[in-house]
Amino acid sequence: MSRPLSVALAGLGTVGVGVLHLLRENADLIAGRAGRPIAVTAVSARDRGRDRGLTLAGLRWYDEPEALADDPEADVIVEVIGGAEGPARALVERALAAGKPVVTANKALIAVHGAALAARAEASGAALAFEAAVAGGIPVIKVLREGLAANRLSRISGILNGTCNFILTVMRERGREFAEVLAEAQKLGYAEADPAFDIDGIDAAHKLAILTALAFGRPVDFAAVHVEGIRAISALDIALAGELGYRIKLLGIARRTASGIEARVHPAMVPAAAPIARVDGVFNAVVAEGDFVGRVMLEGRGAGAGPTASAVVADLIDIARGRVTPVWGAANGALAALPSVGIEAHQGAYYLRLMVVDRPGVIADVTAILRDLGVSLESMLQRGRAPGEAVPVVLVTHETSETAMRQAITRIAALDVAVERPALIRIEPA
Ligand SMILES: NC(=O)c1ccc[n+]([C@@H]2O[C@H](COP(=O)([O-])OP(=O)(O)OC[C@H]3O[C@@H](n4cnc5c(N)ncnc54)[C@H](OP(=O)(O)O)[C@@H]3O)[C@@H](O)[C@H]2O)c1
Repeated sequence: MSRPLSVALAGLGTVGVGVLHLLRENADLIAGRAGRPIAVTAVSARDRGRDRGLTLAGLRWYDEPEALADDPEADVIVEVIGGAEGPARALVERALAAGKPVVTANKALIAVHGAALAARAEASGAALAFEAAVAGGIPVIKVLREGLAANRLSRISGILNGTCNFILTVMRERGREFAEVLAEAQKLGYAEADPAFDIDGIDAAHKLAILTALAFGRPVDFAAVHVEGIRAISALDIALAGELGYRIKLLGIARRTASGIEARVHPAMVPAAAPIARVDGVFNAVVAEGDFVGRVMLEGRGAGAGPTASAVVADLIDIARGRVTPVWGAANGALAALPSVGIEAHQGAYYLRLMVVDRPGVIADVTAILRDLGVSLESMLQRGRAPGEAVPVVLVTHETSETAMRQAITRIAALDVAVERPALIRIEPA
């Protein structure tokens, strides 16, 4: 068997330690599949004294992660520190400039700097692999870039953040409010102490930006992704959505439209019978629609030491085998200059939930506003009667425009019977 592939590992947290465990535990199987053994020989983290639950004996230690790029014995760099800037970015840039292949799980880095990093990788001929950056253990990068390479994709959608999916699932199953369930998720370790990145949709948007670039063969553009999180979702909306035959999920959706590519992350209502609606808890899923393949759905664990290490090591096996694919599936110069279209141009159906004072004429006032804006209704739901008090009223529209719905909200909120700002949730097809 050939010389082992020598790996320099930056970051010894959840993912880094997972990679070490996996490479050790499945060493024989991996060597067979890679055609040579794969072994970590150098590491870097902040705290040299910390007990990581496994031995680091015999490994070269670096206080500065960037210095791993200059280690002459390292064949490949694995970056699992995290963050779009700082040591992670410096290390990856330096390694690629030196022609050293890089494997990373860092979605923020790839989403924000992926275009420039791909240019560096192409210039030096070094591989830049990031299977672990999107949906953890689900091999979605390989599927989009290689398995579906012969297709023109029209749409991808996915549940890309396990924390949000867990929170929405528990809210639905137990009828509880967002804040309580977030606190429980934090206790269980499913949400960070500072959960903003997850619950405000940023993490999902990083992943969607990467998937959009791969699916449509264009440079990654994080700034073009419209982002909304799940803080405003209430137990009431989840229950009412259920009555209407829908579930609420935080989805990342990228779609080819006549005027360009739409990429958006937001809570969405999906028919309860749709396969993606049944992906619950911390699980992730991605659905891709191609012109020849039809619909493909992948589901699995989107985070955690084991699934993420599985993806990192798959990339290492490719590198050991000498399999190098262009970062975005085609040479940088061959990527399409497809324009992005903003959320204002979105067309679709909507769920609109109002809290209005229950008195004669209210519904007529609301429907008049919608009629004036050209919005037609598919159904309406009113629960309970409480004359003089606030009651929820739900309106489900046919396909209409985002602009019309935003105007409708402003006008309805200005009615003296409207008790709070209406809730608006986009409805997605199955
Ligand atoms: N956790 C997951 O399930 C998961 C899933 C998919 C992708 N990812 C991505 O994988 C990456 C790592 O995530 P993680 O969960 O493993 O993070 P983590 O547990 O916080 O570990 C980060 C590691 O980086 C080290 N580090 C931080 N700053 C450093 C610095 N300035 N110099 C040297 N080392 C530094 C830390 O060192 P110390 O240990 O000494 O503090 C730690 O070992 C992130 O990009 C994340 O988005 C994670």
